Amino acid sequence: MLVLGIESSCDETGLAFYDSGRGLLAHAVHSQIDLHEAYGGVVPELASRDHVRRIVPLLRKVLAEAGAGLADIDAIAYTAGPGLAGALLVGAGFAEALACALKVPVVPVHHLEGHLLSPLLSADPPCFPFVALLVSGGHTQLMRVSGVGQYALLGETLDDAAGEAFDKTAKLLGLGYPGGPQLARLAEQGQAGRFSLPRPMLHSGDLSFSFSGLKTAVLTQVRNREPGAADKADLCAEFQAAIVEVLVAKALAALKASGLKQLVVAGGVGANRALRAALDAGAQAAGARVFYPEMELCTDNGAMIAFAGAQRLTLGLTAKAAGGFGIRPRWNLQET
Ligand code: KG4
Ligand code: ZN
Repeated sequence: MLVLGIESSCDETGLAFYDSGRGLLAHAVHSQIDLHEAYGGVVPELASRDHVRRIVPLLRKVLAEAGAGLADIDAIAYTAGPGLAGALLVGAGFAEALACALKVPVVPVHHLEGHLLSPLLSADPPCFPFVALLVSGGHTQLMRVSGVGQYALLGETLDDAAGEAFDKTAKLLGLGYPGGPQLARLAEQGQAGRFSLPRPMLHSGDLSFSFSGLKTAVLTQVRNREPGAADKADLCAEFQAAIVEVLVAKALAALKASGLKQLVVAGGVGANRALRAALDAGAQAAGARVFYPEMELCTDNGAMIAFAGAQRLTLGLTAKAAGGFGIRPRWNLQET
């Protein structure tokens, strides 16, 4: 079964082919970073228009890469939410129209389901059940994953997502766009501990997170004086250390509470090297193992959507996704 996956929930257009027998055959992503850079954040209308421009050329590209023709497509999976409504509509409309023309089924997929199943695409995948730490620009959640479509929320952020905290803090320090990776790069040149930032909710006794205060704490440090390059690097190092410490502590607590030994990390912040190193060390000490998607599948892509769609089709699970026009800009994973 050859499944076309389409991702267009935010600022990346991603298309991919996953074959249930042969695995991932092709995937291509167009990132809109250059388009939004001047604005310091994603401009929804510009995002939608660019998805419209990119989607057909990307389809041609993945068809060629997979050595397939339109007639070979057995099903089409697309991101139905959560995300920007206009951006989602481009993928949904394209998927529905193509599926109608080809007379194949169309599968709405939850974006976070795509992320958290993406480590299953790697050569050495985890097996169910596992704990998943989802850390992206929009979400910070710990889930117990018992199978495809079986997700129990263990804890989540009460305010900003981890990636959002990275991005906002990078912006207030005047770093480039997108902020998260820039802040992480600068942190590697700095020294944690010279500045002192809180570890929010580290000892709260539950699996909740709160990251919005961290950004304010950084603001307090720089308010009274212009930080030099070395100061900025040290602030970034301390900021990253604070986020990493809390994420690792809560992820390990989730493993302990659930009695599971496998932790899956997914979402854009999962690309952070300091986070990976600390999670690996902590898990090893606890006799557990951490699984990540391939580096290029950490951020938004069509491969994870094609894969999740293929799993749902195989199991006969079609998401109760789609509201009007086949999209749900706000959508809890547990409702799939
Ligand atoms: O999963 P993703 O591509 O998009 C969403 O669904 O949100 O995640 C993007 C987020 C952004 O906030 C970005 O700054 C963050 O992931 N990010 C990072 C790194 N790479 C991406 N944050 C920290 N360190 C990184 N290396
Ligand atoms: Zn994402």
